[in-house]
Amino acid sequence: MISQKMQEAINAQIQAEFYSAYLYLGMSADAERQNYKGVAAWLRTQHGEELAHGYKLVQYLYDRGGRVQLRALDAPPAEFGPPIKIFEAVLKHEQHVTERIHKLYETATAEKDVAAQVFLQWFVTEQVEEEASATEVLERLRMAGDKPSTLLYLDKELGKRAKGE
Ligand code: FEO
Repeated sequence: MISQKMQEAINAQIQAEFYSAYLYLGMSADAERQNYKGVAAWLRTQHGEELAHGYKLVQYLYDRGGRVQLRALDAPPAEFGPPIKIFEAVLKHEQHVTERIHKLYETATAEKDVAAQVFLQWFVTEQVEEEASATEVLERLRMAGDKPSTLLYLDKELGKRAKGE
């Protein structure tokens, strides 16, 4: 069984992961609207990853005999600006998620829930990767500046993620 406090905290994280999925889908739609197909595809892949994070937590509650209590999701913003602004928002959001995961880990420690601590280690590592990939894209966009030709090249490069290249 899982403690009430831990169950509550995991349910809050389920909401946060599905909100992340919703947010990235919103960003993807905005990029598509601006005709940045590669950026849109990258964000759509990210949307799928966030759904997988949410399901992972749902399954964990099942495995621990906990109860899944789904919460309402806010609507993400409709517009984010050009790709550089989108990726600034991605990085900021991932830093926020990292903070949440660390707090969740602290709760597991305070609750003396060893199984949850081990389970959450995957998320701790995942956040390191998430921040690193968002930072990398952002740095490349900063290097590209306002040059349309470089931006178009980068957009194409980002689209390769969706194709697994
Ligand atoms: Fe599920 Fe991007 O953190």
